[in-house]
Amino acid sequence: MITSNKQSNIEEEQFEMSLRPSNFDEYIGQEKIKKNLNILIEAAKKRGESIEHVLLFGSPGLGKTTLSHIIAKEMGAGIKTTSGPAIERVADLGSIITNLNDGDILFIDEIHRLSKVVEEVLYPAMEDGVLDIIVGKGPSARTIQLELPKFTLIGATTRLGMLSAPLRNRFGVIYRLEFYTDEEIGQIVERSSRILNIDIDKTGSRSIAKCSRSTPRIANRLLKRVRDLAQINEQKIIDDKISKQALDMLDIDHIGLEPADRELLMTMIEKFNGGPVGVQTVAAAFSEEPQTVEEVYEPYLMKRGFLERTPRGRVVTKAAYEHLGLEFPEEDGLFS
Ligand code: ADE
Repeated sequence: MITSNKQSNIEEEQFEMSLRPSNFDEYIGQEKIKKNLNILIEAAKKRGESIEHVLLFGSPGLGKTTLSHIIAKEMGAGIKTTSGPAIERVADLGSIITNLNDGDILFIDEIHRLSKVVEEVLYPAMEDGVLDIIVGKGPSARTIQLELPKFTLIGATTRLGMLSAPLRNRFGVIYRLEFYTDEEIGQIVERSSRILNIDIDKTGSRSIAKCSRSTPRIANRLLKRVRDLAQINEQKIIDDKISKQALDMLDIDHIGLEPADRELLMTMIEKFNGGPVGVQTVAAAFSEEPQTVEEVYEPYLMKRGFLERTPRGRVVTKAAYEHLGLEFPEEDGLFS
């Protein structure tokens, strides 16, 4: 479900934003993180200070951006959002940070994709609230130090392991967002339906939840597709029958795997005997970027126990063979 079309990306973002909860009470799931953040925020507010820098990590679509906006709202602070790849030069970071107001939140999505030079400028900004700027070139170059507004950095990443240790260590708190339970996703679908004026019953929300890969963003997208079909069929209330029909048409199976997920597993099985095989090799055979394979496809396949990351490479599990209706090749000898 990756779309490369810019217009539809914008529409998608607007759709997502319209469903985004704006406070902790409306936010369903991630209970531990909400509790910890609440304490962090209330204590900082009592002291009249900003909160420490926060790092959020987890798979795409689990709510990292949403949480950041809620934190800003609860702090009564402004928020500026950008992303690792968007900050190409040190000057880009400089202009963003110097334009913040006291207490503001700077949200950097995909923070693991910051360049080394930008990252190094970020360290003193996070730690001492200063920006070191080099003026001039060669022997006459000198550093001037700019005092920055007091800000909180919220970094979001799908890849904690790709963050350098010095950057990771500068965050006061690090939270891992978990996949949601079917029950939680069901509640999110029902909440979204209320906002979008869609009538849905429990069987409908449950069947969407089951196919959502435990991810709110996917559940909300599926809800939109099911609503379209219900509208065409002039069906007033969405139930499991109509949602299953829509999911069938999208070729999404009963546990939420899309054609691309199954193709990825099939590529590994057919071309590499199910592994072990390196991610670069799999990605090339699958005509995808290794990063997309690692960040978009693999986390849920691993969560379902269909894929394992081993030191020798990726391995497709017996459960995946069974799900795909294939026979698992049992090891038949010492050298197999
Ligand atoms: N929409 C997307 N994510 C949500 C969440 N965690 N709670 C409520 N609504 C949502």
